[in-house]
Amino acid sequence: MIIEPRMRGFICLTAHPVGCEQNVINQINYVKSKGKIDGPKRVLVIGASTGFGLASRITSAFGSDASTIGIFFEKPSSPGKLATPGWYNTAAFEKQAQEAGLYAKSINGDAFSNEVKEKTLALIKEDLGQIDLVVYSLASPVRTDPTTGITHRSVLKPIGAPFKNKTVDFHSGKVTEISIDPCTEEDIQNTIKVMGGEDWEMWIDGLKAANLLAPNALTIAYSYIGPELTEPVYRKGTIGRAKDHLEATAFTIADKLSDIGGNAYVSVNKALVTQASSAIPVIPLYISLLYKVMKAEGIHEGCIEQIQRLYSERLYTGGNVPVDEKGRIRIDDWEMRADVQAKVAALWEEATTENLPSIGDLEGYSNDFYNLFGFKVGGVDYTADTNEVVEIPGLQ
Ligand code: NAI
Ligand code: NA
Repeated sequence: MIIEPRMRGFICLTAHPVGCEQNVINQINYVKSKGKIDGPKRVLVIGASTGFGLASRITSAFGSDASTIGIFFEKPSSPGKLATPGWYNTAAFEKQAQEAGLYAKSINGDAFSNEVKEKTLALIKEDLGQIDLVVYSLASPVRTDPTTGITHRSVLKPIGAPFKNKTVDFHSGKVTEISIDPCTEEDIQNTIKVMGGEDWEMWIDGLKAANLLAPNALTIAYSYIGPELTEPVYRKGTIGRAKDHLEATAFTIADKLSDIGGNAYVSVNKALVTQASSAIPVIPLYISLLYKVMKAEGIHEGCIEQIQRLYSERLYTGGNVPVDEKGRIRIDDWEMRADVQAKVAALWEEATTENLPSIGDLEGYSNDFYNLFGFKVGGVDYTADTNEVVEIPGLQ
């Protein structure tokens, strides 16, 4: 079939398998171009099919020859029905991994469930024995607690007072004022349940109890801080409370891993266009201004550049892992540079529908968004008849 983008609100309903494949190949080539990393050999990535998790899987495999197991929640393809991008990404990744002689298997299901955890532990036991690195990179709006059976929904809201600020609809380019009402106490608790550290700790507890973590094993989860501008809706809002919890959980897990010489980290990453971030109000406007400034400075990075740098310059240097005063790895260092933030703040004041295309990188934002779904990727023939059915070779 001929596959075209079909947008509805903040999502795209279609995905292009060849475009997704090309994205994965581009990321693999980037990692290879940076040379070998003396990194982990057996890696479990939870949230492995898109964004930072996919970049972590690619960096592990093609940067340090790791065997990888990827967990994700994606819609498969079938005749006449397109898969979600993460499915096509994983199919492309596994094909490339196989060709390179690298072990790669995947499990598609709810990572929050006991069932997927048990299936994963059994696969590790059977195939890899133990794991050197567990990457926890889930972004989800809902979680069913396997212990209580209660389904929790996260919200993206300010705490205590309404938040009024500018935002942009990146499809139309329209800059408008929005006002978001504050959350309830229940919203905070639900968001912590979904995006906090509880499930990360459950994964590590399960792996450790089954003796599936190798000596000196590491685990890492991803967080975000960002500028003052977005604080009410991000770091000091409901999602920020969940990130506080995630960051605190790193210390709990680190204690639990100390007897095997292991450790747990949170890495604070840069703001990037992913399916998760485009759904957060205000963030797309911030990202489009940030991209403009960082590209002008020659310091712009995507997910793969971020994670390649995380591995080669933070986690696997052979020396101590550098962390901030709160114990967090900072790979958002270039985003948070004072000169970058001052420029973004000044542009923010000026931003209107009329000037955003020139003072911000709205085109870069939009392009990255299309790229997430395999569209507008260089070198892909979108007029070609494309097979929508693609298999993941190592799917369990
Ligand atoms: P993403 O939406 O690209 O990836 C989410 C992944 O989680 C996908 O592989 C998806 O299949 C998987 N997933 C979702 N629900 C699942 C479930 N129930 N079971 C199994 N898999 C499931 O998100 P992104 O942006 O890569 O986020 C990953 C982490 O990075 C999050 O913790 C996010 O807060 C953090 N982060 C994101 C930033 C950004 O600007 N995008 C910046 C800094 C941190
Ligand atoms: Na991810």
